[in-house]
Amino acid sequence: MTVGGRLGSLAGMVVLTFVTAAGVHYPVDVRVGDSVMDAALDNAVPGIRAQCGGGCTCCTCHCYVPAAWRASFPPPGADEVELLAYAWSPTADSRLACQLRLTPAHDGLVIRLPSEQA
Ligand code: FES
Repeated sequence: MTVGGRLGSLAGMVVLTFVTAAGVHYPVDVRVGDSVMDAALDNAVPGIRAQCGGGCTCCTCHCYVPAAWRASFPPPGADEVELLAYAWSPTADSRLACQLRLTPAHDGLVIRLPSEQA
């Protein structure tokens, strides 16, 4: 049994793990319905500044969703796609953490963080 599976069995909670560019892992318990940005800020995970507070106007919540998890989120909207053009070192995995809403299916999710924010 994985750590994520064990802790995520708590009602209404999932476990996700942030992985910094340096390889440091931050596993956190998060309420279903919160955003990935909320999860980072509520748990003082370094690397997500979220200067606009989730308004999809700043691009300082850039993160990477590994390919295995990509389809678990709705595709990015036009505003998010536009902002990601300004992200630091964007890839096909790039998303804005404020636009990623967690569901029960996200228990065990891994989110990678860029080495810098734009
Ligand atoms: S917090 Fe500003 S775009 Fe996500």
